[in-house]
Amino acid sequence: MKRTLVITGGAGFIGSHVVRLFVNKYPDYHIINLDKLTYAGNLENLRDIEGMPNYEFVKMDICDFEAFLDLMQKKQVDGIIHLAAESHVDRSIKDPFTFARTNVMGTLSLLQAAKLYWESLPEKYEGKRFYHISTDEVYGALEMTHPEGITPPFTTAASSGSHHEAYGEAFFLETTKYNPHSPYSASKASSDHFVRAFHDTYGMPTIVTNCSNNYGPYQFPEKLIPLFINNIRLRKPLPVYGKGENVRDWLYVEDHARAIDCIFHKGKVAETYNIGGFNEWKNIDIIKVVIKTVDRLLGRTEGEDMNLITYVTDRAGHDMRYAIDSRKLQRELGWEPSLQFEEGIERTVRWYLDHQDWMERITSGEYEKYYESMYANR
Ligand code: NAD
Ligand code: TYD
Repeated sequence: MKRTLVITGGAGFIGSHVVRLFVNKYPDYHIINLDKLTYAGNLENLRDIEGMPNYEFVKMDICDFEAFLDLMQKKQVDGIIHLAAESHVDRSIKDPFTFARTNVMGTLSLLQAAKLYWESLPEKYEGKRFYHISTDEVYGALEMTHPEGITPPFTTAASSGSHHEAYGEAFFLETTKYNPHSPYSASKASSDHFVRAFHDTYGMPTIVTNCSNNYGPYQFPEKLIPLFINNIRLRKPLPVYGKGENVRDWLYVEDHARAIDCIFHKGKVAETYNIGGFNEWKNIDIIKVVIKTVDRLLGRTEGEDMNLITYVTDRAGHDMRYAIDSRKLQRELGWEPSLQFEEGIERTVRWYLDHQDWMERITSGEYEKYYESMYANR
């Protein structure tokens, strides 16, 4: 079937994996990667597919309502997968306005343009889809001690099936009340509400998914895992916020992209799906795994760089624990993570060590010139 899809934020970390998957898997689809190319957008992430006939890049700000409406009409867009966002909690603490502008107003702008265009068609919303990618951070923070006295993090035991059944609210469910704490999560929560409102008010076929922390290739090195891999390589200090006791639930980015593909095609309109791999880690424990892996792959003595760990002032409002219950997605749509964490982290560390040139172009700011040289004369 022929379709024209816009994927927003396709030059970012997760977006680039989603664009690559769709361009390679669906030759009949026309895939438009719409991205403003902020500091986090890097077209080098998509070098391997940029010449594909079903792929097009459009540089655009999602807040530009007129331009997006025009694009919808000209390209006859019938599906939107929306990932573009400001995504880093620490930046949101320093500059919340940019987060409200992009994440809230930008999402609203896309919704309104999609509404005007789709409602102008004879078939209206038939065959259309607005799929919004969100985060588990909208649910707030979970406790470290469960009322039954069982202590998280829950990792492989939980993923074995019924084990975590007993914990109930020890995980974020699709029905968990929104309770965001950071400007980032507050802006994502607000955008989620707007998406659902467009379904409830206008009948737009929307879907929202809330995913746990992603890791893997092409993540901007301000986030924990790529930042620390690079710092270990360069023997620079590893700034661990607070006591390093906070828990995050980690999913390999390609498994998230596979989930997005599955949900875009098979998910039920107006539904919410949580995406996660039951893979919780205390920050300090994951940091130790990363140090050992980098050391081993660089031929150093495993663990010799533990002394780089440097405890620093905690992040303001630092959420203690995130943990996703993704059984609805597994049960209803048959998705499950393909990779064990040990394999995922090994692959990830290896990728960053093999792509030091990519890392250096980012840390030097050189990557921002890539777009200019590739597209300026077209
Ligand atoms: P990222 O910061 O790596 O990439 C964001 C992309 O959006 C960049 O390419 C950037 O240029 C683009 N962008 C930003 N503002 C824009 C604007 N105004 N107009 C057009 N493009 C703009 O982010 P990511 O980590 O890949 O996250 C992608 C999405 O997934 C976000 O919506 C985020 O909230 C969500 N998410 C991320 C994680 C995670 O662990 N990274 C987990 C769950 C959900
Ligand atoms: P991050 O990758 O920023 O993702 P998020 O805040 O969206 O979960 O951070 C992951 C965890 O690592 C989080 O608990 C904050 C912590 N952290 C550090 O301890 N030091 C750092 O330098 C960074 C970037 C994060």
